[in-house]
Amino acid sequence: MDLRKWAYEDIRQIAQLEKECFSDPWSFSMLADTFMNGNTVTVCATEDGNVLGYGFVVVAGEDADVANVAVSPAQRRKGIARKMLESLVSKAGSLGVKRLYLEVRVSNAAAMALYLKMGFVGRYVRPRYYGDGEDALVMVKELG
Ligand SMILES: CC(C)(COP(=O)(O)OP(=O)(O)OC[C@H]1O[C@@H](n2cnc3c(N)ncnc32)[C@H](O)[C@@H]1OP(=O)(O)O)[C@@H](O)C(=O)NCCC(=O)NCCS
Repeated sequence: MDLRKWAYEDIRQIAQLEKECFSDPWSFSMLADTFMNGNTVTVCATEDGNVLGYGFVVVAGEDADVANVAVSPAQRRKGIARKMLESLVSKAGSLGVKRLYLEVRVSNAAAMALYLKMGFVGRYVRPRYYGDGEDALVMVKELG
């Protein structure tokens, strides 16, 4: 498995994985806009030309937001998300980011377990944050 930043050619596969992993997926064009945005740090895990997982962080000065992290259902529990997050944290830190935020659905126990293991802590709940009415837990990791 290889970890690297996105290439434009990856976006088609990433958009497909978005549909498989989220009930409210980002579209191809939203992902392409993100890719073009100079304030975004991206990572994808690939093997034999296949994208197994991906993630990205949007940087705004000393704060940044983990926008999405997902791994293909067939490739989960192999440490891929943890490795991608470690890479995103390291790159964000080298850009001067001091605090990394994210929102996670309160029902998403797998993601919360991952983020807790990665040193994120829950800060507060955003009621009805998602389009279907579900609450989000806002989590933050202070970078050293
Ligand atoms: C959440 C997600 C990204 C985790 O990806 P993954 O590659 O399977 O995660 P990892 O293998 O790196 O797991 C690292 C740790 O996170 C925790 N974890 C991950 N999945 C878990 C699960 N289903 N149940 C409980 N803990 C879990 C564990 O502590 C795990 O360590 P362990 O395997 O040694 O016990 C993946 O389940 C996914 O893509 N879900 C759908 C998209 C999503 O919800 N993304 C997050 C949006 S906020």
